[in-house]
Amino acid sequence: MSFDVDLIRKDFPSLSSGIAYFDGPGGSQTPSVVGDAIAKAITQPLSNRGLNTISEKNAEDYVIGYRSAVADLLNCDPKGVVYGRSWTQLIYDFSRSISKRWNAGDEIILSELDHDSNIRPWLQAAEARGVTVKWARVDKQTGELPVTAVTSLLTSKTRFVAVTGACNTLGTKPDIYEIGIAVQKAGALFLVDGVHLTPHTVIDFKDMPADFFGFSSYKFFGPHCASFIADPDLLATINNDKLLPSTTVVPERFEFGTLPYELMAGVTASIDYVSTLDQDATGSRREKIVKSIHSVELYEKELFTYLEENLKSLPGITLYGKAKDRTPTCYFNFAGVNGADLYKFIASLKVNLPAHNFYALELSRALGLGDTGAIRAGLAPYSTKDDVNRLIAGIKQFLAKGA
Ligand SMILES: Cc1ncc(COP(=O)(O)O)c(C=O)c1O
Repeated sequence: MSFDVDLIRKDFPSLSSGIAYFDGPGGSQTPSVVGDAIAKAITQPLSNRGLNTISEKNAEDYVIGYRSAVADLLNCDPKGVVYGRSWTQLIYDFSRSISKRWNAGDEIILSELDHDSNIRPWLQAAEARGVTVKWARVDKQTGELPVTAVTSLLTSKTRFVAVTGACNTLGTKPDIYEIGIAVQKAGALFLVDGVHLTPHTVIDFKDMPADFFGFSSYKFFGPHCASFIADPDLLATINNDKLLPSTTVVPERFEFGTLPYELMAGVTASIDYVSTLDQDATGSRREKIVKSIHSVELYEKELFTYLEENLKSLPGITLYGKAKDRTPTCYFNFAGVNGADLYKFIASLKVNLPAHNFYALELSRALGLGDTGAIRAGLAPYSTKDDVNRLIAGIKQFLAKGA
């Protein structure tokens, strides 16, 4: 493994601000190669997709390049990659299409561990069709979503199950393999929200017992957009509303209107960049991605242990995530401290440490944190021990002055 954080940091112009970013789960910083690719794409000859003119061919190349880059990142079929403005938008669109097949009396299963974007659209679609919603509950002591919390709810009426690949506040990684096998055996469709998982773990969609997956590029060095993943044969069975002149071809028929070619070029550049995070990585782009993300995982794991050990030594802290398998993300608060005050104070020391429910609203309520939530610290590949030391020193300073 060759993961050199100092080298990597040079690629991110925003790090020269001196800010220590612990808000990666909300969106990562962006390397200059991604900004350059976007600028180049939008200023080159560019028209709508086609094969006659240079400008049409450029647009075509950006779309093809985007699908093939995402396919390498997730090991999926490029024809099963649907572009979307955000994961939330994609889930709303797909929930309307997928739920057309549901009938009154059918059941779906949602999880308390999920971001609201993987709850509310399904819940609203279920309500509209008279479908029963069953809740997979989190173990409040550990922050785990046990496999049986989902599988014990499966019946012959279950049509659909949605579970996150990783919780964006607690970091919990539920066993989506065990869950997915049981869901598919029960004859239901299984969707995994990969938005928080993808920046921290190698994804192999072809090996995953999931029908749908997705991620948002801006969480992993790319522009603000997302991708929805499925087998193209399954996509072909989904009947969505569309304009009359627009194509019936998959995946294009799920991508409404003219595509943002420049953002697609940015996604491709971000995935190319990910493939270089391990400076020793060689082989195909997929091979380099796998090696690089493994190296990121090792690096982040070690730094996360350092962060958690230091946090644990602080007086009055409650750490909420205790799951066995987690992303480098922790969620905590201090007795008698308003997280929003700490967030504001520490920002003045150039440490980004937000406090919120982060849209994991059902979870925040289940943990007794109401709609306010708690403080979240998430690591990214550019995070350093020095950043962690500044975070700890900043919290100590805040606690010492008397919250
Ligand atoms: C786990 C998870 N799912 C979904 C989302 C929503 O993604 P988007 O902003 O692309 O709609 C987020 C954003 O924070 C997230 O962390």
